[in-house]
Amino acid sequence: MKKNAQTALIHAPRKAPQYISTVQPPLFRASTIIFENTDALFNRHWTDDYDYSYGTHGTPTTFTLGDNIAQIEGGEYCLLAPSGLSAINLVNSCFLAQGDEVWVADNIYGPNMEHLRNLQTRYGISVRVYNPIDAETFQPTDRAKLIWLEAAGSVTLEFPDLINLVKKAKAHNILTALDNTWGAGLAFNAFDFSDEHLAVDMTVHALTKYPSGGGDILMGSVVTRDQKLHHQLFRMHAIQGISVSGDDVAQIQRSLASMQVRYQHQSESCLTLLHWLKQQPEFVQVLHPADAESAGHLHWKEICTDAQSAGLVSVIFKPEYTLADIRRFCDALELFKLGFSWGGPLSLVMLYNLKDMRVLEHTHLQQGLLVRFCIGLEHPADLIQDIENALKQLPARQHE
Ligand SMILES: Cc1ncc(COP(=O)(O)O)c(C=O)c1O
Repeated sequence: MKKNAQTALIHAPRKAPQYISTVQPPLFRASTIIFENTDALFNRHWTDDYDYSYGTHGTPTTFTLGDNIAQIEGGEYCLLAPSGLSAINLVNSCFLAQGDEVWVADNIYGPNMEHLRNLQTRYGISVRVYNPIDAETFQPTDRAKLIWLEAAGSVTLEFPDLINLVKKAKAHNILTALDNTWGAGLAFNAFDFSDEHLAVDMTVHALTKYPSGGGDILMGSVVTRDQKLHHQLFRMHAIQGISVSGDDVAQIQRSLASMQVRYQHQSESCLTLLHWLKQQPEFVQVLHPADAESAGHLHWKEICTDAQSAGLVSVIFKPEYTLADIRRFCDALELFKLGFSWGGPLSLVMLYNLKDMRVLEHTHLQQGLLVRFCIGLEHPADLIQDIENALKQLPARQHE
């Protein structure tokens, strides 16, 4: 049929071949998915995995990345969300109901705590905080439904007592959700992390960090090994209209191939920085799970190895330094850029005031202002030089 230009522009002349072998999988972009006929329409099962019925429920592109992430993390099923925080919220909204109790590590990713506090206000969900390195502080009641774990925790990087916390949660029939962004599925297997084959029920991963690796794409995932939990999440994901862009998925898929190499390199560079930072007189504490003096180190040692310890290290400045001093230090850095997030090629720095960040009293943390370094892919010697130069902005060094 000869078509008018207006129609011809919409109906492409060439159909994609059934199979063509390429290094990266083909990219599907879809809101509408076309049914072959009314039989296919009436027989669709959108609640099943891999049933293609509408863009929000998934395409071969999103399922391919999901399968990859599930495999890397040791799980079976994966759902993608537009950001790590959105994946966290999916878990909270799926499993928490009015009157429930949820347990959160004191060093949990801050916006997760904020989301839970919001649920507490609106639905009477009780938010209880525990010390991740002391499983005794986790004292669930009969109302407890979910415990959030993070290994290592945000900013202060304490590695939790995963073994005892998960054992205790299982004994009380409480769901376990681990923010697995730091480990990225590479530092340890969250679905089999002890001699007793302990496993969390689900992991959340900010794919924004190491899987993306570019500092330019936001995405998150929820992985489980339990089909029933997955189906609950799947339905909530569908009715909330959570979906991701096929283009973003393809970019992350492309970066995944190099993730392990990048992660290992960043882990090693970070260890080099850790050893140097520990010798500098300006810091009262250097925080990194692989460091024997850091809280939670022994828990880290139980399930991780040196080569896989991510690219984050925090320092607490001696209390005599003022906020103005630390701001001058951060502003003087040239290679480390001031910004949130991590896992990309560019090293980042962020300053925090711990005073406003923790609910419990922590004897293992010194007083002082904290700076977190996120190690990128630059040469560690240049990064050390950058910090060394910026430290000269501090009063003690000016008098040298
Ligand atoms: C540990 C952790 N979990 C989750 C998130 C949220 O990820 P996103 O930035 O993709 O929302 C972040 C972001 O910084 C994070 O550090």
